[in-house]
Amino acid sequence: MQILFDAGSLIQALEKSDDSAVVSLCRQERCKGWVVATSIPVLLEGSGASKKNVQSFLQNLAVLTPTAHDIDLSLGSEYPFEIALLACLVEACGIDAVVTLNPEKFSGLPVNALTPGQLQEKLDAPSPPVNEVRLLDITASYHQILNEVEKETAETIRSGYFILGPKVSRMEERMASYCQTKYAVGVSSGTDALLIALMAAGVGPGDEVITSPYTFFATAGSIIRLGAQPVFADINDITFNIKPEHIERCITPKTKAIIPVHLYGQCADMDPILQLAEKNGLRVIEDSAQAIGSEYKSRSAGSLGDMGCFSFFPAKNLGGFGDGGMVTTNCEELYQKLKILRVHGSDPKYYHKIIGGNFRLDALQADVVSAKLNFLEDWTEKRRKNAQTYNQLFKDSAMTPFVQLPPEVFPRHVYNQYVIGVGNRRDELRGFLNENRIGCEIYYPVPLHLQDCFKSLGYKSGDFPESEKAAGQTLALPISHEVSREQQEYIVNTIQRFFLGE
Ligand SMILES: Cc1ncc(COP(=O)(O)O)c(C=O)c1O
Repeated sequence: MQILFDAGSLIQALEKSDDSAVVSLCRQERCKGWVVATSIPVLLEGSGASKKNVQSFLQNLAVLTPTAHDIDLSLGSEYPFEIALLACLVEACGIDAVVTLNPEKFSGLPVNALTPGQLQEKLDAPSPPVNEVRLLDITASYHQILNEVEKETAETIRSGYFILGPKVSRMEERMASYCQTKYAVGVSSGTDALLIALMAAGVGPGDEVITSPYTFFATAGSIIRLGAQPVFADINDITFNIKPEHIERCITPKTKAIIPVHLYGQCADMDPILQLAEKNGLRVIEDSAQAIGSEYKSRSAGSLGDMGCFSFFPAKNLGGFGDGGMVTTNCEELYQKLKILRVHGSDPKYYHKIIGGNFRLDALQADVVSAKLNFLEDWTEKRRKNAQTYNQLFKDSAMTPFVQLPPEVFPRHVYNQYVIGVGNRRDELRGFLNENRIGCEIYYPVPLHLQDCFKSLGYKSGDFPESEKAAGQTLALPISHEVSREQQEYIVNTIQRFFLGE
């Protein structure tokens, strides 16, 4: 529950300074508390407390900074300024209630106004049964990250340095260290990370690149865009990742590189892939778009092959507020080439050695990524815990004959998606979950070898049975760090009702 405290309720809580005060509910993480920036001078003056005391008192609350537009609207309202501003922010930010000593002041406004006592009662009462779970609610984490993001982005806006520059470099250094690589190069998207990595590997017309047919389009799309040919090798039916045995059969004199995809956040079986690459002189480009923080035998995704490609698409475990991506590498030569390719192949500026593109990352996206990186480990562990909870709930409810669970074959799986196999009734189950207001998704309904745009590659239905089966029978369930045990119970119970009846 998201709560906006007005200045009066905070003054009272600060004066009482007993642990039953509402703010302690935020400290115990029983609700997410906000305070509007404009309430702080009122709080200082009204309570007579020192700045230091107010600072420590506010520690578990996030500060909501009104925009000039919010202020303008509130100044134009017939309600007193503070009331109008709180009401405006509650609506704009999807906050559940305002806590105030005077709820009557909000009468006539579309605001749920509670006294501190009423909030306490609400939180002490048994929570209403769950009847809705979204696949992903990106804004749910704003309470945790927004002030950090605002700090970073305000620095950039004030500096006017918007593209590449010091903030991108700082993010790259931190990300390289997080991924256990020497270098990281921020780029414009995960798709562009793949494209630039293939360019750096020298892939071009006439070359072949082996990859999985069961992945997001960009993996193979970037190969074709360079005039090269994707050659597909089928997946392992348990991990949904490319099977090294199948890769070996695809290697020809034209093969230049392999792109294993660490699908859903679990690494592909990299050792045999790296051995094949070494034996045949091939580059390995890891599609780690879904696998930030994932590990294979204690080595990080993105540090295993020649280059690792990451996506900062907002729905990823580490997502920006827009598009962004990154390439990691341990090779100095590739690093230098990637940096040149990112700026149209120029070195120095306006002197073009090779043909590159505009693959630059915006500083504002680097800021969001840097701010969120501080929370990534905590979120990843929560995802992993949620995955274990699902596994247990499915086992306890005798669902395992109906539901294939996603095992962690190579720790550590970071569960960008929690994907179950549910057999031939997948589409029906999806409809049933949606009817019960449960978000779920099919990643991916059509394997790449059967996509219309790849017809010229000459593949046909039946060529990759495991990929085709996965595309027809799997379903991704809500797994983000914000998903609660109660929500998971609701989801598993609904799936149980689907298979076993009411
Ligand atoms: C496996 C995989 N590769 C590549 C990409 C492309 O990343 P982006 O959307 O940032 O371009 C994605 C994004 O969904 C992905 O999941």
